[in-house]
Amino acid sequence: MAETIKDILKEIHAGRIGESGLVRLLSLPTHDEFQPVFDESARICRKHFGDRVYVRGIVEFSNYCRKGCLYCGINKANRRVGRYRLTLEEIFNAAAFMKKQGVLTVVLQSGEDPGSDALVLDAVRRIKGELKMAVTLSVGERDSGGYREFLRAGADRYLLRIESTDPKLFKKLHPDDDLEYRTQCLYSLKKLGYEVGTGIMVGLPDQSLESIARDMLFFRELNPAMVGIGPFLPHQDTPLRGRKNSDIFLTLKTLALIRLLLPKSNLPATTAMGTIDPTGRQQALKIGANVIMPNFTPSKYRESYKLYDDKICVSEEYGKCASCTRGIARAAGKCIVRSKGYSKSK
Ligand code: 5AD
Ligand code: FES
Repeated sequence: MAETIKDILKEIHAGRIGESGLVRLLSLPTHDEFQPVFDESARICRKHFGDRVYVRGIVEFSNYCRKGCLYCGINKANRRVGRYRLTLEEIFNAAAFMKKQGVLTVVLQSGEDPGSDALVLDAVRRIKGELKMAVTLSVGERDSGGYREFLRAGADRYLLRIESTDPKLFKKLHPDDDLEYRTQCLYSLKKLGYEVGTGIMVGLPDQSLESIARDMLFFRELNPAMVGIGPFLPHQDTPLRGRKNSDIFLTLKTLALIRLLLPKSNLPATTAMGTIDPTGRQQALKIGANVIMPNFTPSKYRESYKLYDDKICVSEEYGKCASCTRGIARAAGKCIVRSKGYSKSK
């Protein structure tokens, strides 16, 4: 078996890996068996990033959403969540606060809320103009004209997860979306010149290992600057309530393989990994992740931005996530750097 894993790793490095090799590795049942892959993904990560971890502060500025994604706690059908939208001042103050803490990249995230576009444009201009930070947007699908406007305002990066490239699964989970259109959005973001981030949830109901393997081949094709993945976690007020939690092991296996397929990409240790396992983000940083994203959403809104149950950082004191993430990096034998962390994968 050890020999076959080595062979498959060689195939990956030679750029020849296909779906079946990836499925073979994803289906390895124990940590011990998968360990050679973790060793290799950790080595590749160190080769390109040393012990450096980039930090991106996230501000969840609006939970209004026009879509009804089945897994998501802020989907439009959830009447139990109080809707909020931060003011320009609140967004700017959160960015200024993170800069003081040495965090030089801000991620502005929201539900898909085009009603916020004017606010987003103002926020991007002001943060770029006065704070000179790198700005990432994570606000969903727009036409390329919309993406161009954000770019002209100064946005540097854009995160839009594909969630799953499995046509059937995508359709079932996203009654308002079209997989082809989502894919087009990603290519148009890239063409416009954004550093593009995409990603998936791992362990979705009815998601096969083959489907995760194909997602990974899609990443290799798109070659994004960042790939954010996290375990699926059910939310009690969504149609997927009561479904089984994903598991951290499968998520880590997927992360390690993405590191091998896209050696220089930015791979975050995500909040969902920290939710499913208290040491999830640490483990991720040890086996190939090189980014962490502390939460800088003003405390009073955090309860209303729960995409899944038991999300961590919700009742933490404001500013705590910055020091907490430094501790997580240290525990993983790494160090958070004061850098905008522009992509190496171009
Ligand atoms: N479990 C895990 N991740 C989720 N996301 C949304 N809902 C859930 C959930 N129930 C992820 C999606 C989205 C990102 C912002 O959060 O992948 O793109
Ligand atoms: Fe938020 Fe640890 S990162 S409390």
